[in-house]
Amino acid sequence: MKTDTISKDTIQSLIRTALDMRGRAYTPYSRYTVGAALLAKSGTVYTGCNVENAAFTPSTCAERTAFSKAVSEGDREFTAIAIVGGHEGAASEGFAPPCGVCRQVMAEFCEADSFIIILAKSEDEYRVFTLGELLPSAFGLDASPEKKPV
Ligand code: THU
Repeated sequence: MKTDTISKDTIQSLIRTALDMRGRAYTPYSRYTVGAALLAKSGTVYTGCNVENAAFTPSTCAERTAFSKAVSEGDREFTAIAIVGGHEGAASEGFAPPCGVCRQVMAEFCEADSFIIILAKSEDEYRVFTLGELLPSAFGLDASPEKKPV
């Protein structure tokens, strides 16, 4: 667990916000609600919930909702995200790890070794990972020559 770059108070505050956001999820199809709270380096917290659609494909995960809100407001540098999820109307009984697409979106804007992903069931029950732990060897068109496509 890498927690040295973020305080326990900040972690718990992000979890509380993510838990609140679960209540805003629009999930008539899966009945699985997810809430996210994304802390930008600017100090602003961007929130997100999953928003489903009858055509399924247009559905958006909570994490990507938060990233889209942040980037569209001009924030592109981030410290941490807290994620909670569970069946509609029930407590977050298990952890809700981000899907692969959301991990890839995180990799677009966040550093593998320092961006922190908090998976929580409650303020007191959570696990902390770096992005690199959850998405090793991420694809990216960055400056690293071995990562550049030919
Ligand atoms: N979901 C998220 O919001 N985040 C994830 O990382 C995984 C899945 C949502 C999508 C869908 O609305 C519901 O959870 C069930 O898959």
